[in-house]
Amino acid sequence: MADGLVMDSPAKDGGGIVIRDDWPGYPLDLFSYPEHYSGDLECVYIPHGVIMDRTERLARDIMDDLGDHDIVVLCVLKGGYQFCSDLVERIKGLNRNSNKSLPMRVDFIRLKSYLNDQSTQDLHIVGGEDLSVLRGKNVLVVEGIVDTGKTMKALLSHVEAFKPKMIKVAGLLVKRVPSGSGCQPDYVGFEISNRFVVGYALDYNEYFRDLNHICVISESGKQKYKV
Ligand code: HPA
Ligand code: MG
Repeated sequence: MADGLVMDSPAKDGGGIVIRDDWPGYPLDLFSYPEHYSGDLECVYIPHGVIMDRTERLARDIMDDLGDHDIVVLCVLKGGYQFCSDLVERIKGLNRNSNKSLPMRVDFIRLKSYLNDQSTQDLHIVGGEDLSVLRGKNVLVVEGIVDTGKTMKALLSHVEAFKPKMIKVAGLLVKRVPSGSGCQPDYVGFEISNRFVVGYALDYNEYFRDLNHICVISESGKQKYKV
């Protein structure tokens, strides 16, 4: 029988579900995905349903830790929009159906730091949203992916300047990279190997955000959408 998703049990330190380096992903033809991406992907790395199930649990963890205090959810665009939207949706469900309640505001910040599959040195904060609403608030920063941690570090010092009371970070994916800064989100969906993944709002030069699974991009996909 074929092996399933190769995972270790969730790390005790809250590091999320660990997907090991030898996980080959699922063959694409076992799932459905847009025709316009045929030939552009290597495998389905994390199916959409698994992302949703993990997100449901993260919502509960966040609720348990932060419930009964107001928070400002700060969605990091563009890669974090789908995760943020689904996470907020799950927290809304818990607000309707449990004794705890977590009043939320939602705000957005837009970053850009990648060209092709390479991180550029500088972090661009695009569109100067006024973040003075964060002063004195409990802030939950929601990121799609954290790899070197450089972006997250720069973002956190940017956010800190607005004097929030507390900052927590939720990251759907954390990449195991040699040059990692050790900057770890407080809530992690999955720890993944050092491969370029797309889908579920994660892009390669703005493509693949309209793919629901998280997939590994193929070499021909990289060539096709290179800028
Ligand atoms: N995919 C998409 N965006 C990213 C990645 C990735 O693997 N790493 C950092 N930004
Ligand atoms: Mg990107």
